[in-house]
Amino acid sequence: MMNNTAVRIAQLRVRRGRTRVFDGVDLTIPRGQITGLLGPSGCGKTTLLRAIVGVQRIESGEVTVLGEPGGSRELRHRVAYGTQGAAVYGDLTVRQNLAYAAALLRAPRADVDRVLDEVGLRPQAGQLVESLSGGQSTRVSLGMALIGAPEVIVLDEPTVGLDPVLRAELWTLFRALADRGVTMIVSSHVMDEAQRCDRLLLLREGRIIADTTPRALLEDTGTTEPEAAFLALIERDRAEDGAGAPRSRREARERGEARERGEGATE
Ligand SMILES: Nc1ncnc2c1ncn2[C@@H]1O[C@H](COP(=O)(O)OP(=O)(O)O)[C@@H](O)[C@H]1O
Ligand SMILES: [Mg+2]
Repeated sequence: MMNNTAVRIAQLRVRRGRTRVFDGVDLTIPRGQITGLLGPSGCGKTTLLRAIVGVQRIESGEVTVLGEPGGSRELRHRVAYGTQGAAVYGDLTVRQNLAYAAALLRAPRADVDRVLDEVGLRPQAGQLVESLSGGQSTRVSLGMALIGAPEVIVLDEPTVGLDPVLRAELWTLFRALADRGVTMIVSSHVMDEAQRCDRLLLLREGRIIADTTPRALLEDTGTTEPEAAFLALIERDRAEDGAGAPRSRREARERGEARERGEGATE
């Protein structure tokens, strides 16, 4: 069973600034599938992905990736992380950007050509990134994550700002990678992207409110659209919560502080 697990998180607690983002999150993510991490802005998606790749300071809990502690040296080549608005250099060509990533990772130079084909950018290899279309430059960002042939690819809202055609193209590429055995962990605040995933983790205010599949999500909620399903789950979660009352004095205090800073609850 353990061999089939890409990520295991136990009792994760994270504080960012004064905000308690996670207060005991448990989850597992299987290998070789696309797991979607979905939820509204501010619910903790980026923080969770950062914890998985080992760049988030955690208060307590365990994060295990491919059987190793998250962020450990041994995972450096096995786990790739595409941040929100991933860093690519506009004044370098596509090939130069990929070659730079390959140099940093000490990956074989041949990786650059492999990745150019995978993301369909061979015709643009010599073009400056700043001259590419939005969809093309998104594919460069993804290409940076594909250098070194990682076993786990973590992408933070990779489709944000893309038109529907480009979004569909990107999801087709994610599917091809998963079919090859790569574990894809992809966050989004767009619920209809749920349909593209094998597994879904729905996050609300730092809690996993559903760990499910697209089909089970719709069946459990009696809905036909993921958006409606998510709203139904939020309603259910609120009802279980005591009509949205804070679960603790600490939470009440934190919510109050969040409001004062103008970062109120985001639904
Ligand atoms: N550097 C930070 N300092 C303080 N609070 C932060 C910081 N980064 C994120 N947060 C807070 O942590 C919570 C989760 O943020 P984040 O993980 O970025 O959510 P998402 O990616 O789902 O939009 C939010 O309430 C956010 O305001
Ligand atoms: Mg985010």
